[in-house]
Amino acid sequence: MIDKKIVMSGIRPTGFLHLGNYFGAIRNYVKLQNEFECYFMVADLHSLTTHPDTKELKGNVHRVLAENIACGLDPEKAAFYCQSHVYETGELYLYLNMLAYKGELEKTVTFKEKARLSPDNINAGLLTYPVLQAADILLHRATYVPVGKDQEQHLEMARTYVNRFNHRYGEVFPEPVAFNYNLDLIKVPSLDGTGKMSKSENQMATLYLADDDDTIRKKVMKAKTDAGPTEKNSEKPDYIANIFQLMKLVSIEEVIAKFEHDFNECTIRYGDMKKQLAEDMVQFISPIRQKASDMLNNPSYLQEVMEKGAEKARKSAAATMSLVRESMGLKYF
Ligand code: TRP
Repeated sequence: MIDKKIVMSGIRPTGFLHLGNYFGAIRNYVKLQNEFECYFMVADLHSLTTHPDTKELKGNVHRVLAENIACGLDPEKAAFYCQSHVYETGELYLYLNMLAYKGELEKTVTFKEKARLSPDNINAGLLTYPVLQAADILLHRATYVPVGKDQEQHLEMARTYVNRFNHRYGEVFPEPVAFNYNLDLIKVPSLDGTGKMSKSENQMATLYLADDDDTIRKKVMKAKTDAGPTEKNSEKPDYIANIFQLMKLVSIEEVIAKFEHDFNECTIRYGDMKKQLAEDMVQFISPIRQKASDMLNNPSYLQEVMEKGAEKARKSAAATMSLVRESMGLKYF
């Protein structure tokens, strides 16, 4: 058997996924699962660092599982599991904590930001969030970690812990690096002409995978336009370029070419363009929404997924941890 590279990533269970998550992350996972040995994990323990109230956790975990699977993540191909189901995570996190220095942790951008937002809950778990993340990755001795730019610093820290561990106790871990296919850099602009689709900002400008058909239509029809260009082949204002960009994600080439042509000829009717985009979005999103909703109504299926995923993850974790304990000298007989 050829040795496959190991891929690991974590997904925060923060509720509803949107089109930006699909094109930015999930599509990547779906591709990776066919080429590598993949571990995809719902980071429920990480969420405790900022959300000690666990009332919504179960629903959020189920939703994130269902929506990712509906988008094509295949629990038969990848190990898809919950962080809290793999107890070895906590053990490795403990050992790595001895290799992580307070001064470094305090300098982490995400820590400073979260501490600023919640000055009353600056707990040690929040401070060592990157250590827990390193444990997630190193538990499988993964080398490729599909994540966005905002996670680069955490990966850098994981590499630091790898080097300290290997130097002190012997070579156990490879250095993990961020991994993305180029297609991942595709932009998913928000519908109000400012920035990207995002969970926290304007909900009307973001298309969620759970939006029903009429909501999708309503949101798309609200997108900002103007009276149209008055000079042939003029440059598109940002908010119009964004509508074209969204069309590129879900519409066929002929449709895009038609509206490009109409724009250049100054005959474009933005109302028609948005109607077309709305229908193409509905075509794209509604099967995903339907699949996810079927799974959410079938909790025993989700349980099966989690059990199977945890079993695969534990197997890989157990192998790593016995190497770790041995190299650390935690074996007395
Ligand atoms: N911190 C990551 C985020 O905020 C989630 C995460 C947890 C993660 N553990 C991970 C990502 C391990 C990659 C690898 O999105």
